[in-house]
Amino acid sequence: MRTNLLILIATLTAVVTVTYAADRPRVFKHEVDAADMRKARTYVHAIVNSVLEGDFDQIRKYGEKLDELTLIKGEIDPTQYEGSERARAEQFLKNNEYYHASVKTLIKAASEYSVEETFKVAEDITRSCVACHAQFGQNRFPAFQRMSPSGNGKD
Ligand code: HEC
Repeated sequence: MRTNLLILIATLTAVVTVTYAADRPRVFKHEVDAADMRKARTYVHAIVNSVLEGDFDQIRKYGEKLDELTLIKGEIDPTQYEGSERARAEQFLKNNEYYHASVKTLIKAASEYSVEETFKVAEDITRSCVACHAQFGQNRFPAFQRMSPSGNGKD
């Protein structure tokens, strides 16, 4: 019984992985602002440094800088896509919302000098970058191709 279940899970994982691989070349590249992404990386590094130093004012300052970045050029309207493409567009926007929500929570936590919350959310922000790159940035970051879809850093 247990063996059957394992085989079923393995088969499902294989199907999901193949579907995922087939989808891979479709990146919303034209909507990604590479210059903003590079700034975001600088600010994330600065936040990690400030976390190490316990400097909450700096964390808040770089959080605010992150919040000013849109990361995406223009609007993405999922209704312009069909089927799995639409699902991907919706997922992309969700990732972006998760990123902005984490940044806002970080700013609040750092303003309140809330140690636990600040450290937890600083980690969430990194997760939000990783989740999106694993799903949509595989051409740019091919190392994510070795990762399984459920290992996208989000769930
Ligand atoms: C909503 C999705 C999404 C989120 C959120 C996101 N990224 Fe990206 N990012 C992408 C995609 C997609 C690419 C690759 C675009 C391409 O194929 O060139 C990318 C590329 C990049 C690049 C490379 C830019 C270049 O020079 O080509 C950097 C650096 C980067 N992201 C940093 C970050 C950081 C740091 C965060 C979090 C604070 C983040 N990104 C959050 C989607 C996202």
